[in-house]
Amino acid sequence: MSIDVVEPKTISQFEDEQGIYQPAPHIVEQANITAYMRSKGFSTWEELYQWSIEHPHLFWADMANRLEWYEPWEKVLDDSNKPFYKWFVGGKFNIVHNAIDRHLKTARRNKQALIWEGEDGSYRAFSYFGINREVSKFANVLKSMGVQPGDIVSIYMPRIPELVFAMLACAKIGAAHSVIYGGFSVEALRERIADAQSKVLITADGGYMRGKIVELKKIADEAMGHSPSIQTCIVVRRTGHNVEMQAGRDYWWHDLMSLPIATARCETVPVDAEHPLYILYTSGSTGKPKGVVHVHGGYAVYIASTLYFTFDIKEEDRYWCAADPGWVTGHSYIVYGPLIEGATSFMYEGAPNYPYPNRWWSLVEKYGINILYTAPTAIRGLMRFGDAWPNRHDLSSLRLLGSVGEPINPEAWRWFYNVIGKGRCPIMDTWWQTETGGFMITPNPTTPLKPGSATRPFLGIQADVVDEQGHSKGANEDGLLVIKSPWPGMMRTILRDPDRYVNQYWNSDPRGMYTAGDSARKDEDGYFWIIGRIDDVIKVSGYRLGTAEIESALVSHPAVSEAAAIGLPHEVKGTAIHCFVILRAGIEETPALEDELKAHVAREMGPIARPESIKFVSMLPKTRSGKIMRRVLKAQALGQDPGDLSTLEG
Ligand code: PRX
Repeated sequence: MSIDVVEPKTISQFEDEQGIYQPAPHIVEQANITAYMRSKGFSTWEELYQWSIEHPHLFWADMANRLEWYEPWEKVLDDSNKPFYKWFVGGKFNIVHNAIDRHLKTARRNKQALIWEGEDGSYRAFSYFGINREVSKFANVLKSMGVQPGDIVSIYMPRIPELVFAMLACAKIGAAHSVIYGGFSVEALRERIADAQSKVLITADGGYMRGKIVELKKIADEAMGHSPSIQTCIVVRRTGHNVEMQAGRDYWWHDLMSLPIATARCETVPVDAEHPLYILYTSGSTGKPKGVVHVHGGYAVYIASTLYFTFDIKEEDRYWCAADPGWVTGHSYIVYGPLIEGATSFMYEGAPNYPYPNRWWSLVEKYGINILYTAPTAIRGLMRFGDAWPNRHDLSSLRLLGSVGEPINPEAWRWFYNVIGKGRCPIMDTWWQTETGGFMITPNPTTPLKPGSATRPFLGIQADVVDEQGHSKGANEDGLLVIKSPWPGMMRTILRDPDRYVNQYWNSDPRGMYTAGDSARKDEDGYFWIIGRIDDVIKVSGYRLGTAEIESALVSHPAVSEAAAIGLPHEVKGTAIHCFVILRAGIEETPALEDELKAHVAREMGPIARPESIKFVSMLPKTRSGKIMRRVLKAQALGQDPGDLSTLEG
């Protein structure tokens, strides 16, 4: 497929001779970061940044003081047991108190907190008062089901308001949630429920995607069949199509919410700042997905401050983060961040191009969106349809744009900037990870922008590019991206596997820096350019998938003996999955089998993991210790030099 894009002709008035986009003076003047900088007595962002990394305790205490604490913390950071850092030690807190309760005491009580549109055009909106009612009622339902502080509730839902309520209800009563993306299939769901040992699963009959029903309850039924820990399943009616309800286990959400126990009064439970808020599974370099643990206190401080300064949230803004709440972007910047900031957050259920490629642009126009935060894959996907679709709509409400998930190619950046932002909306290219909780390297509205660069670290964050020994690389040299000091939003551990947390993120660097798993380079202005993953992780449409998971899905098919998965460039997805398979003896290589294996991977892991191609081979390049050398396969596929082959099996 070729992308038929005409490079936009408009050269923004803000682009200088070096191709750097300078911030407009009125944006700088009104920016939250400018106000903070001045309040600290600094006249440039550089001075403010320098102060923030020299006095991180002062800076983070400032940020924590933007929120409400039941009891103040005694110490900003406890680093006595590295890398198990603790933040705001001794503080009593609840993220829901900050996301909802405190707003009820102010004029925000009647402000719209969440506006939602379904793919089928249905519309729902909730004020802060309304969100509190739904969350409190559901929290009472969960309590009546025996959910206790410390339990992990699994959530497998479409992009509907009840997903947000379910997450907040768990947090309100001190239980942790584990949201499993609604695009995942049976095995992925089962594995995550088992690791979390959840007693309760919250799901829906189905969700809409591209006009079709995604059979969530059916998938959940299959997964629950092999999930002995599950005692209760709560089902939201979204599509209304027929689903099986198992007596004594499955309950309709709306039935429970109309019971007398579901009152709209429920006290938010004060928890320790370090109390677990959620588990979110993400792919790593080896083995099964890791349950990344985030906590109430430091996480809340981090996501609120990054959102406030980066997306410059103002009281009257309508903010749209177009990610799925099932991914970290949704957790931090659809659900918790905007609510803590008292913003109006918009959520859309379906596909960007359904029923036509103007759906998103019509939503921007219809709801008067001011800030739009999305991913390069979505931008490339919509760019493919040409400029006429967005040009049909009034996009003048937009003030800021954002990108996340993978490096944004400069062509897509310029299209987003010129065609969507009309050359006046700065793009916040935010680099971060599930593990980091929030933005790490990101511009703010006052930053001069270079298309394709996530620019510089956030306040309080010390990022660098280093070699294997941990020594800083020179300007424009490739190396490993590391974070040199802790930050409040960081993951605390991997659920049930603290050793993996230490080994994967902290041990590979002898100086105990956080190793992100990305390669990057830093230019002469200190701007970071992310190159990509160094481990065996493939980013498909910005979604993170482990080669090991794809390979084990393939090997679970009776025809397959061995498999290798690699990522190769793709115009829209960024990277697509290509597999190499050795069949079992006597099995014939047919196109039908190739299709069958693609479908098998999609069934096992979810449609996002469906391989682009499957090639039957008789051997795979391996090291003498038996590790598949994926880089050799990749080099061959791209017609490149495979590099050092000294460890290749003879
Ligand atoms: O490789 C980086 C890429 O996404 C990885 C993290 O993936 P995940 O945990 O799924 O979180 C995605 C949303 C935060 C990183 O290791 N990545 C994320 N943002 C960017 C990026 N690569 C380049 N530029 C970005 N802005």
